[in-house]
Amino acid sequence: MQLDTIIRGGRLVSAGETTRADLGIRGERIVAIGSQLTRKLADGAKVIDARGRYVIPGGVDAHVHLALPFCGTVSTDDYDSGTRAAACGGVTTVIDFAIPYGKETLQQAVDNWHARADGKACVDYSFHLAITDWQRQKRDVRRMIDRGIPTFKQFMIYAREGWQSDDAAIYEALETLRDLGGMLCVHAESSRVLDLLIDRHHNRAEMKKHGVYLHTITRPHFIEAEAIERAIRWAKVTGGRLFVVHVSTGEGADLVKRAQEEGVHVLAETCAQYLVLDDSVFAGKDGHLYATCPQVKRPRDQKRLWAGLAGGEVCSVSTDTCTFNRKQKAMWKGDWTKIPMGMPGLETLLPIVYTHGVLKRRLTVNQFVDKCCTTPAKVMGLHPRKGVLQIGSDADITIIHPTRKRKVDWRKMQTNCDWSPYQGWELAGFSEHTFCRGQQVVKDYRFVGRNGHGRFVPRANLGRP
Ligand code: URP
Ligand code: ZN
Ligand code: ZN
Repeated sequence: MQLDTIIRGGRLVSAGETTRADLGIRGERIVAIGSQLTRKLADGAKVIDARGRYVIPGGVDAHVHLALPFCGTVSTDDYDSGTRAAACGGVTTVIDFAIPYGKETLQQAVDNWHARADGKACVDYSFHLAITDWQRQKRDVRRMIDRGIPTFKQFMIYAREGWQSDDAAIYEALETLRDLGGMLCVHAESSRVLDLLIDRHHNRAEMKKHGVYLHTITRPHFIEAEAIERAIRWAKVTGGRLFVVHVSTGEGADLVKRAQEEGVHVLAETCAQYLVLDDSVFAGKDGHLYATCPQVKRPRDQKRLWAGLAGGEVCSVSTDTCTFNRKQKAMWKGDWTKIPMGMPGLETLLPIVYTHGVLKRRLTVNQFVDKCCTTPAKVMGLHPRKGVLQIGSDADITIIHPTRKRKVDWRKMQTNCDWSPYQGWELAGFSEHTFCRGQQVVKDYRFVGRNGHGRFVPRANLGRP
C-alpha cells in the first residue's frame, strides 16, 4: 500500500491506552497503524519522526464563537485567525454556534455561518444552532438535524441580545430533541435574579468603588447553580438530552453528578479558563479584559472542576473562544455591563489542559485525550470520524512534546487579539505538528496550512437518549 505520510515511532495516546507505533496516512484518512511501517511502506512517503513525542487525535473544541456579533461589536477572531490558532494549538475541529438574528430562520443562520467559514477555515468545523425564538423556529429543527446539525443551544440569559429562552421553550425543546435524536445545550445562568443584582449595583458610586469586580459581585455562585438545577429538572421530567455548556462552579459539577447518578441524561463541559483562572484577575489594572459570561470563579471551583474531569461528571473541556481586543474591551468605560464578554482561547486549550492537568498529575495523558478529543467527538456526533486514532478515521493528528515548554506571547500567536489571559505563562503541549484530514497544517510549531482546507463536517443523529 502506498502511504503519503508515516508518523514514526511516537507514543499513540487514546482515551484508554498508550502504545508505541507508527501511523500511516493516505489521502485524508489513517490507513495503517503498526510497527516498522517505514521499513515496509516508506516508498515515497513523507516521514515524520515522532520518537519521544505523544501522538494524539486532533483536538475537538466543541464551543467556539468566531466573528460573533455580540455586545455591540463583532468578536475579532474569525474563521481565518481562529482556525489558524486552532491548528497551532493542535485542535483540528471546532464547533461554532450559528445564531439567528432578528427574524432570521435557522436555515438563514446556518447559511450566514457557512458564508463566514467557506474558503477561510484552515481546520474542520461544524455548527450548533442557537434557538432564539422556539415557537417560530421549532418547525425547522428536524430539517436541521437531517442536515447534520443535531445540537441546539438555548441561552437562559441575554434578553438584551434577543437570545434568551424561557422555561417553556427549554422544556419543549428537550421533548422535541429527545424524539428527533438531538441534544440541547444550555447556557445556564439565572436571569431574573442576575438582572436584579445588576440593577442594584448599577450606579456611579458602586462602579467607582468596585469597578469590574461588580461582574463577580452580581454573579454569585447560585446564579449558575440555580439555572443548572432548573435545566436538569426539565431534562429529568422530559427525558431529553441536556448538555450544560461552560460550567464554572463546583456547585454546577455537584448538581450534574447527582443528576447523572439518578439517570438524567445530562452532560457538562467546562472551559480551560475555569480550570486555571480565578476572580483575582479582576483586581488587576486590566481586570476588565477577563470578563466573560459566566465569569471565572474561585480556586475551590477549579479544584472541583478538575476532580469532575477526572471523575467523569464533567465530560470535556472547550474554550468558549469569543475574542475581543483591547479596543473592544475598552468600550466598558468603567461600566462592567458594557464590556464585550469573552476571551481568546483556541491556541492554548490543549497546552493549558496538558500542563495544568497532566503535568500536575490531575489527569492522566489518556484522560487528557479523552476530555479534549475523544469525548467531545463522541457526544457531538463526530466519532469515529474525529477524536480517535484508528484505521478509517480522518487523519486529524497532533504531535506534542511531553515536557518542552513555550512561553505564551500573543504577539507570536495566530489570534487577532492583542492580549492573552495567559501572557507569559510557560506551557507544554503546543502542537509541534498538526495534520487535518491528512494535510499538514503545522510543522515545527509553525502554521503551514491554508485557508479553505477546513470543511464543514455534518454530524450524526445522536439517537434517542
Ligand atoms: O462571555 C462569553 N462566554 N461570550 C460568548 C457567549 C456565551 O455566552 O457563550
Ligand atoms: Zn454561553
Ligand atoms: Zn459560548
